[in-house]
Amino acid sequence: MKVTVSVIKADVGSIGGHIAPSARLLEAVKKHVAERGKSLLIDCNVSHTGDDVAILMTHTRGEGDSQIHKLAWDAFVAGTEVAKSEGLYGAGQDLLKDAFSGNVRGMGPAVSEMEIDERPNEPFLFFAADKTDPGAYNLPLYLMFTDVMNTPGLILSPKIGKGYRFVIMDVNYTEGDRIIELNAPEQVYDIAMLLRDGERFVVESVWTRATNELAAVVATSRLHNIAGKYTGKDDPVMLVRTQMNFPATGEALAPFQIGHFVAGGMRGSHNMPLMPVRLNSGISYFDGPPVVSCAAFSMHEGRLTGPLDAFDHPFWDTVRARIAEKSMDMRKQGFFGAAMLPMAELEYTGIMERLEVLEKKFSVRAEGKKKAA
Ligand code: F6R
Ligand code: MG
Ligand code: MG
Repeated sequence: MKVTVSVIKADVGSIGGHIAPSARLLEAVKKHVAERGKSLLIDCNVSHTGDDVAILMTHTRGEGDSQIHKLAWDAFVAGTEVAKSEGLYGAGQDLLKDAFSGNVRGMGPAVSEMEIDERPNEPFLFFAADKTDPGAYNLPLYLMFTDVMNTPGLILSPKIGKGYRFVIMDVNYTEGDRIIELNAPEQVYDIAMLLRDGERFVVESVWTRATNELAAVVATSRLHNIAGKYTGKDDPVMLVRTQMNFPATGEALAPFQIGHFVAGGMRGSHNMPLMPVRLNSGISYFDGPPVVSCAAFSMHEGRLTGPLDAFDHPFWDTVRARIAEKSMDMRKQGFFGAAMLPMAELEYTGIMERLEVLEKKFSVRAEGKKKAA
């Protein structure tokens, strides 16, 4: 059976700054989707990661369906009403347009969708990250789908040993979707070369080469490209199918033990390690650290069983403790060097404005003149 899994997520307001949405906001979103989605959806799940609310829906209407997108948009509008009435911070922050126009792409919310031929038992993982952008998934996806050290299935299983195809998007290009398709393992150096720059090149999807099936899909929007200026980090969502022709669930989770440094954290302008957290976690230290949650589902004829919380296990407590140390180590160097993002990626204009003033005060010293003023 062909089933579409659509995840649409947005930040429409949170308590105490950019920490987490309120229970009433979440309730309003859930209620809207449950009531209005009755005739459209097979199943759904609403969750939050940091200040972002994600609506995961299963249906048979295909990707980019206007009614599915409108359902999510209207649910976020309902959540925004509650956010406003409760005085939540950033109420409606990711709803960048006044009126819905057919598809939420380009309107603020992030979208990740996959139309698949459902297997008789369909396990998949739903990742949601906060205080970072889609490039955060580049390294985990590289490791999951190309690296034998992470994914022994690449040599153990003849099914997945044929490798995977990466579709990579240049998210700085705003005229349309500028993409490239590269095959692992043959082009793995080219893939790595692009993926090292997660602020520009982002994995959009990964496909099996043996069977041409969709294996993973990432929300690739860059909010600042939509709004013409930085409006916050994109806090991306990702779907990954597991087992059989795909990485095992454990191979898909393994890269997240690294706590790799990603763009985000405080004021969306720092490099901080990505911490795997439990479902429905908030944000804390230094408006971060950037977090990622993982909901594991099984699906049968579009009906969901789960979620199970993939990062709620004693193993990940040790990982979290190490990543907390790593965060604090980076924070010791404050604004300096690698701790803060390069100019072009800063979410605020203060540094550019200061620099502009100082630029005018610089002078080129005449040759031979003394150093003292
Ligand atoms: C990062 C984030 C926060 C805010 C910070 C300041 O993505 O959401 O770090 O940037 O709390 O927020 P404002 O400028 O809204 O006061
Ligand atoms: Mg926010
Ligand atoms: Mg957020």
